Amino acid sequence: MRTYLVTGGAGFIGSNFIHYMFNKYGDDIRIINVDKLTYAGNLENLKDIEDRKNYTFVRADITDAAAIEQIFMKNDIDVVVHFAAESHVDRSIRNPEVFVKTNVLGTLVMLNNAKASWEKADGTYPEGKKFLHVSTDEVYGSLEEDGGYFYETTPYAPHSPYSASKASSDMLVKSYMDTYKFPANITNCSNNYGPYQFPEKLIPLIINNALHGKKLPVYGDGKNVRDWLYVMDHAKAIDMVINEGKLFETYNVGGHNEKQNIEIIKIIIETLREMLPDSDPRKAAITEDLITYVEDRKGHDRRYAIAPDKIKSEIGWEPETMFKDGIKLTIKWYFEHEDWMKNVTSGDYMNYYSQMYSV
Ligand code: NAD
Ligand code: TYD
Repeated sequence: MRTYLVTGGAGFIGSNFIHYMFNKYGDDIRIINVDKLTYAGNLENLKDIEDRKNYTFVRADITDAAAIEQIFMKNDIDVVVHFAAESHVDRSIRNPEVFVKTNVLGTLVMLNNAKASWEKADGTYPEGKKFLHVSTDEVYGSLEEDGGYFYETTPYAPHSPYSASKASSDMLVKSYMDTYKFPANITNCSNNYGPYQFPEKLIPLIINNALHGKKLPVYGDGKNVRDWLYVMDHAKAIDMVINEGKLFETYNVGGHNEKQNIEIIKIIIETLREMLPDSDPRKAAITEDLITYVEDRKGHDRRYAIAPDKIKSEIGWEPETMFKDGIKLTIKWYFEHEDWMKNVTSGDYMNYYSQMYSV
């Protein structure tokens, strides 16, 4: 039975990944989830699987080398799936330190402990051990509006403290592969959307604000482009790279789904209006009049777009969920989980929101 150590499994993509894995493999795998439970980590995301015999949660900080060492000493880990990170660009602009600590130092601690636990006396590694480092397309910088894509060979050119810290963590993983032949893969994925995403990110923020009749803040001219991928398609890609990815390789993962932010906001308004019954009092208030242009993000990357050719040709993965379907699934999930939204937007979130937005 394969044992996975998932870091950051109580966050957005990590919790979707854990659901994906138990749905697919049932009792044939074991998952240990290590998470510090920052503002972005929420055990509610895993309520339905928390009692499984083949699941264990450990609350720990990935920068705490002694705590991580204990986990490796007590368990025979086969695969590390490393999601844990500070993940929000706007927060990184306000407070870069924690991004460097968690994303760079935390990744180093994970690498060192996996290496110490797996490396044999002759410097080789047993068959089947793998460190899957989950990264972002933002490490490649920004593309022009009128062309080009991010390939695995595109030089790194991060702009925000978030993307700089992720780029640094990728470089550390690359250095371990090159120096120690450490068995790893890196995946660089485009923007995800779906259930359990914290409402600091564009899509859940717009859904939540619209449902409360609040202004919909769009940065700058609203024409920045992101390449949106449904989170379960990302989970599937990670599982496939674990199973079939060639060691030491990087794979770009993307949705073939470029959209301007303003288009996303208009699609959400239209979809909410389609899905809400006429009898729902919220429906009348959800119109494009809520859209409000606000000050642009500092250093705002103009366009991201992934070329997922390598993962398609080598591994056979491609995005499956059309945006029009994925956004309906996402909105339906938020409709059905109003309490989840209420819990995560109480307290600290309101302070964050009022510091970040004046609308
Ligand atoms: P998230 O912010 O929703 O979740 C991060 C999780 O990590 C939380 O559960 C948090 O508690 C945990 N965490 C944070 N600091 C920790 C620490 N020091 N020790 C232990 N746990 C800690 O993030 P997400 O959107 O799920 O992203 C997961 C990973 O995927 C990140 O590495 C991110 O860079 C990458 N990624 C995200 C996207 C996206 O669109 N969200 C796209 C590509 C790549
Ligand atoms: P975000 O979800 O923060 O992801 P990232 O910055 O990592 O791509 O933002 C997606 C895009 O939406 C980005 O171009 C910034 C923009 N945006 C807004 O226009 N308004 C908002 O309130 C937020 C959170 C983001």
